[in-house]
Amino acid sequence: MKLWGGRFSKSTDSAVDDFNSSIRFDSRMYAQDIKGSVAHCEMLGKQGIIPKEDADLIIKTLGEILEDIEAGKVEFSVEAEDIHMNIEKLLIERIGDTGKRLHTGRSRNDQVALDLRLYLRDECKKILGLLDDLRETLANLAEKNIDVIMPGYTHLQKAQPILFSHHMMAYYEMLSRDRQRLAQCMERMNISPLGSGALAGTTYPLDREFVAEKLGMRSVTKNSLDAVADRDFAIEVCFVMSMIMMHISRLSEEIILWSSHEFGYIELDDSYSTGSSIMPQKKNPDVAELARGKTGRVYGDLIGLLTVMKGLPLAYNKDMQEDKEQVFDAVDTVLMTLPVFTKMLATMTVKGENMRKGASGGFTNATDAADYLVKKGLPFRDAHEVIGKIVAYCVKHEKSIQDLSMEEFKSFSPLFGDDIYSAISLEACVNLRNVTGGTATNQVLKAIKERER
Ligand code: ARG
Repeated sequence: MKLWGGRFSKSTDSAVDDFNSSIRFDSRMYAQDIKGSVAHCEMLGKQGIIPKEDADLIIKTLGEILEDIEAGKVEFSVEAEDIHMNIEKLLIERIGDTGKRLHTGRSRNDQVALDLRLYLRDECKKILGLLDDLRETLANLAEKNIDVIMPGYTHLQKAQPILFSHHMMAYYEMLSRDRQRLAQCMERMNISPLGSGALAGTTYPLDREFVAEKLGMRSVTKNSLDAVADRDFAIEVCFVMSMIMMHISRLSEEIILWSSHEFGYIELDDSYSTGSSIMPQKKNPDVAELARGKTGRVYGDLIGLLTVMKGLPLAYNKDMQEDKEQVFDAVDTVLMTLPVFTKMLATMTVKGENMRKGASGGFTNATDAADYLVKKGLPFRDAHEVIGKIVAYCVKHEKSIQDLSMEEFKSFSPLFGDDIYSAISLEACVNLRNVTGGTATNQVLKAIKERER
């Protein structure tokens, strides 16, 4: 007999049980479900809504059920539909009529809204820690390789020399914003919907604030309809997970490029690369590729959940049971990706010499050569043209700007003097960009030092 079986004269078809049941994927919320029930029950006893002894017995038994679940002694049933009714059924099996008092003043609609908030709160906390590990790894790479100069790119064409550390700290910034977004999303999520009942509130004198406080939540929801119909917090989690993966995916793409023979800027550690079953020479960046690939599924989770919610009338609809697999998948994917990605970065070898070689070619100092002429009094547009001509000359003669003789320089402009060579050295190109947020060594060191941990 179902917990809700009163008005039914036939039992559910087993195909409907299978279709309807969410226990396969929501059983992972068992601890949060029990935690919520314990707080609710304590409040019921305190308010005299159920006898205090009953509340005590229910709480004690819920604790035993939790232990048994964790010891692997409990088998959930599809017939009991979801984690909420599975646990309630166990409770009633163990203490009979007393157990039947737990669900007073509560609906599965506010219960599931609570459980999901509590569950995601716990998972997001883990992700915050993993984000911090990754951020620290990036800052450490930046610190350790502070003298490495590499070409910065736009359009994947060499643009201007930058510090490799500056590049790493760019990702640090992205992940710091992700961290902030996640923390803010957790704040909004951390509100208790209990007391909203099925949709309209409840006739019992519940102490909602007491329950919220017991659960470490900062307040209670303000509209019962909204509280049971709202999955914004789950969508926000999917969005933040998507942003994290997007950032990881961009860095993955660079790792993949940089580890190619053509670039040779880094080498992944053997323990973080894989081989080919046919080509003996291969060392593949599978971790970075999978991280890039998994970004797609997390975006899918976000779009999937947004689409489930689109057009749902208030308040609860069973469609909303489809929220869980998507948000769980998004969170699971990030939880799985972050640690391995972080270790891959921490163990890779930075090939500073190759990066420097890369920065010396491709006319990355052309802007600085133009700036040199500007400092000698030439308007920037004219300087741009002179250097443009020099670049064309260099391309034709397969030279770099710094390889030109003084005679060659002078043939383009009388303003050139011997100091041109030091003005367009890689070090000068980097260190003259001494503006807040620029790539000059002291600016990058400052960013590393003053990073918010
Ligand atoms: N398993 C359901 C879910 O995940 C719980 C809420 C069910 N509520 C209801 N009125 N059928 O959404």
